[in-house]
Amino acid sequence: MKISPVKSLNGTISLPGDKSISHRAAMFAAIADGTTTITNFGSSADCASTLACLAQLGVRSERDGATVIVHGAGKYGLKKPESPLDCGNSGTTVRLISGILAGQKFDTTLVGDESLSRRPMKRVVTPLELMGAEIESNDGKLPMTIRGSRALNSIDYTMPVASAQVKSCVLLAALYADGRTSVSERVPDSSPDSKFHDFTIPKNADFKSQVANRKSKIPLTRDHTERMLGWFGVNVVIDDSGRVSVSGDSRLTARDFKVPSDVSSAAFFLVAASCLPGSDLTIENVGLNPTRTAVIDVLRRFGAKIERFGESEVSCEPVGSLRVLGSDALPGDPGSNLVDGDIIANLIDEIPILAVFGTQLKSGIEIRGAAELRVKESDRIASVVENLRRMGAAVEEFEDGFRIGRSDLKGAVIDSFDDHRIAMAFAVAGLVAEGETEILGAECAGVSFPEFFETLAGVCR
Ligand code: S3P
Repeated sequence: MKISPVKSLNGTISLPGDKSISHRAAMFAAIADGTTTITNFGSSADCASTLACLAQLGVRSERDGATVIVHGAGKYGLKKPESPLDCGNSGTTVRLISGILAGQKFDTTLVGDESLSRRPMKRVVTPLELMGAEIESNDGKLPMTIRGSRALNSIDYTMPVASAQVKSCVLLAALYADGRTSVSERVPDSSPDSKFHDFTIPKNADFKSQVANRKSKIPLTRDHTERMLGWFGVNVVIDDSGRVSVSGDSRLTARDFKVPSDVSSAAFFLVAASCLPGSDLTIENVGLNPTRTAVIDVLRRFGAKIERFGESEVSCEPVGSLRVLGSDALPGDPGSNLVDGDIIANLIDEIPILAVFGTQLKSGIEIRGAAELRVKESDRIASVVENLRRMGAAVEEFEDGFRIGRSDLKGAVIDSFDDHRIAMAFAVAGLVAEGETEILGAECAGVSFPEFFETLAGVCR
């Protein structure tokens, strides 16, 4: 794919359904009682992997474009698959479905593509084993076999890594465990104020009030699972320390779900339009869950002109539209160009495009505390550093991030490393560079956003 520089991005666009939310909607509908119609279901190859795995487990569904009708099998209605479940490139598919499979009466083997087969699965194996599951893996990697008919016990689990996939896996296994399982993403502090140690489940807690209670405390990792389990009728309790729990006797009841568009996909357009003076771009119906919008906050902090409007809540997720205007010269943050700490987990998927943004900022940008990027679809720290250097940028690499100085990018041959977010981030870099850029393996963008290049071409001026 060849990319030439453009002047601006103008127009109004709608993007495909959120990938994280689509995976969950399909899986939860599959183990619910009754039929769920999911609209604006993500067009990504990853979400198709989830549907294919569910079909192998005997879940009937019909798809017509972005509408998927899932005939729920109920919690105990899944069938033994005839062959290993192929999760393709999708970490969310394998890690979430593992939680469901740990509670089944049959054995299941999970496989994936080359990239997924390199990624760590021990993070889900450990809590599932603590719950009594029996799992064989290839030294903590795929292929992995989850043995059925193991009685699961409830646990109180504190995650060593801030991962929504691990949190979701444990909460899904919890639906099959004896008693109430809780999961926490924060290492408990030792202050006397910490409510961690005397965790009690409030009586008659309802999910809406739980979400409202934690408005001031945004969880480290995306909370789509907690919200959506509530939507499907599960009593999800969140205590003052952010510890989330569900009970093993919960059932899910089918309920139609409308998926918002993917804010992580929107991020590529937000950065491209911000960096190109004369841009005026509106992106409609974007998911604005506070655990996902840190990217908007950071872009604004560094001088991007982004306005949110028309906000509402649809199927338990906040949505709204975004308007972004281009700037002549982006100042960045003259005080500190550092992005670090708790916010990192909330924008983990947007870091490659933030790196490209950093090259256009007077202040540059430094990202730290992001070592998790090393175990994504590619080693995203290495992929970003290598490709930015090819484009002539000033970059310093750290184990947990990078420091990028303001740079005039030059067109170059870019290696996508078969990583969708690297391909799309560097397509944006190509738009603001001087000369032509070629992205090798650009078709991998389809893993999250098959329409990316077409949508981009439609707004380039
Ligand atoms: C996801 C969680 C994140 C994210 C991934 C999707 C999810 O991964 O990077 O793209 O849908 O739960 P981790 O939970 O491993 O941080």
